[in-house]
Amino acid sequence: MVSENDLAKLSYPQAPNMVTDSIPGPKGQKILEDSHKYESMARGGGGFPLVFDEGKGATIKDPDGNIYIDITAGVAVTSVGRCHPRVLEAMQSQMGRLMHASDISNTRRTELAAKVSSVMPQGLRNNCISYFTQGGSGAVETAIKFSRKITGRNQIVAFHGDYHGVWCGCGSLTTGDQYRAGYGPFIPGVIHVPYAYCYRCCFGLEYPGCDLQCAKYIDYVLNTPYTGADDVGMLIVEPQQGEGGYVVPPPEWLPMIKDACEKHGALLVADEVQAGAGRTGKMWSIEYSGVEPDMLTWGKGMGGDMPNAGLSVRKDLAEKIVESSQPNTFAGNAVAAATTITNIEILSEDNFALVNRAAELGEQIKGWLTEGAGEIRTIGDVRGRGLMVGIEMVSDKETKEPLDKDSIIKIIMGMLNRGLVMVPCGRFGNVFRFMPPLVLTTEHAQKGCEILLEAVKEIESGGA
Ligand SMILES: Cc1ncc(COP(=O)(O)O)c(C=O)c1O
Repeated sequence: MVSENDLAKLSYPQAPNMVTDSIPGPKGQKILEDSHKYESMARGGGGFPLVFDEGKGATIKDPDGNIYIDITAGVAVTSVGRCHPRVLEAMQSQMGRLMHASDISNTRRTELAAKVSSVMPQGLRNNCISYFTQGGSGAVETAIKFSRKITGRNQIVAFHGDYHGVWCGCGSLTTGDQYRAGYGPFIPGVIHVPYAYCYRCCFGLEYPGCDLQCAKYIDYVLNTPYTGADDVGMLIVEPQQGEGGYVVPPPEWLPMIKDACEKHGALLVADEVQAGAGRTGKMWSIEYSGVEPDMLTWGKGMGGDMPNAGLSVRKDLAEKIVESSQPNTFAGNAVAAATTITNIEILSEDNFALVNRAAELGEQIKGWLTEGAGEIRTIGDVRGRGLMVGIEMVSDKETKEPLDKDSIIKIIMGMLNRGLVMVPCGRFGNVFRFMPPLVLTTEHAQKGCEILLEAVKEIESGGA
C-alpha cells in the first residue's frame, strides 16, 4: 500500500507556485540565451522555454524560484521521482567506493544484471543476459547488431510512429521527418509498416470489425518474396507507442505479430525504453499482451536520475554473441548501477505497489480528462495505460484534423504559466502526454488535469 502522505514528502508541497509574471523569468531567460550561444540546438527541448534548477519527486523549481508540477518525468525518466532520498543515499555511498571500471567487471554491475533479469517479463525472467549502455539509443543499436549475429539475417521490420533514437542505426528504425530529413542515408534493409493506431487507421477500418488487418499485413511482409523479407532478422516494436502518440494497440495485435515472427524466423524485440520500468502499470508494457519477447531494450525509468540503459537477451540466443566483441567504455558505471538497483527496489517492493498504483492513478486521470473533454471541442481522444496517458488534440472531432502547432504551443505556455510542465508527442505533435513520476500524488495529478483543461479552454475561447 502506497501512502499519499509519504509520496507528498518527496515533492515540494507548495507546487504549483509561480513567483514571476511570465515564463521564463529573468534568470531563466539569461540561461536560455547562453544555451543558444554555446549548445547545439539539435538537442531535444532546445526551444522549450523552461530551465530546471532543482527537482524533488514530481516537482521542479526553475532558477527564478517558480515551482511546477512535473507531468513529464524528464520524458518518462524519473519514475521514482527526482532526487529520491534512497537513491541519493545509494549514489553517495557508492561514490566513495568506486565509480568507473571501464567495462570490466565490478560488483555493482553484476548485481544489477541479476536484478534486471529478476524483473524481466516472462520468457526473459531469470533467463537472460544484459548488455549495458548509457541510453536507449545504445540499447537499440546493440539489438540491431546482436540480431544480425544471432540470426545471420540483416533486414529489420519497424513501425510507423515508433521512436528508437536518432543515431545512424537506431535512427534508421525511427520514423518522422523531423529526425531524418537531411541526415541520411540510413542503414539499408529496414522495412517500416503501420502500427495499430486505431484512432487513425491507415486502412480506414475500425476495430474489431477490421479483423486486425494491420497485424495480418505484418505476417505478409515477413513472408513476401517481393521485399526480400524472408531475410528479416528482427522486428522491433514499442508495445505501447511513445513518441508516436501514446498509442495502445488492441489486445490481439502483439500476439499475432509474435506468431508471425516465430513462423518466419524473426526475433521480436520489445523496445520498453519509454513504456517500461512500471510506467504503464505493469513493469513492462508487453506484459499486457502475454507475449514473450526475444530481446528487450530498457532505459529511461530504469536509470532515472543517472544515465543507464541496456539490452536484455534470452540466454539461449546470447550464446552466439562473441566475447569482447562489443566494448563500451562507460558501460556498467558503478554509480549508475547502484542507482538503477535502488530504482528497481523501490518499484518492485511490496509486490510492485508503486507500479500497481500507477495503473489505478492512470485510470483516474483518464476519467478526469474524459469527463472534462465533454465540454471541449479540441480533445479528440484520451487513451493510454497507467501513467502513460495521451490526449490527442484535433481542430475537428469528426475529421480528426490535428490541432495546429500555434494552438498547441499556446496551450503548453498556458500550462507552464499555471505551473504545469508538459511536453507533447505524436506524429503531428498534437498529443499531450501525462508521463509523470510514479510518485506523483493524487492531489497533484488532479491539479494537473485541471490545469490542462483550463489551458485548453482558454485557447478555445480565444484567450492567451
Ligand atoms: C521507445 C524509445 N526507444 C529508444 C529511445 C532512445 O533513448 P535515448 O534517448 O535514451 O537514447 C527512446 C527515447 O525517447 C524511446 O522512447
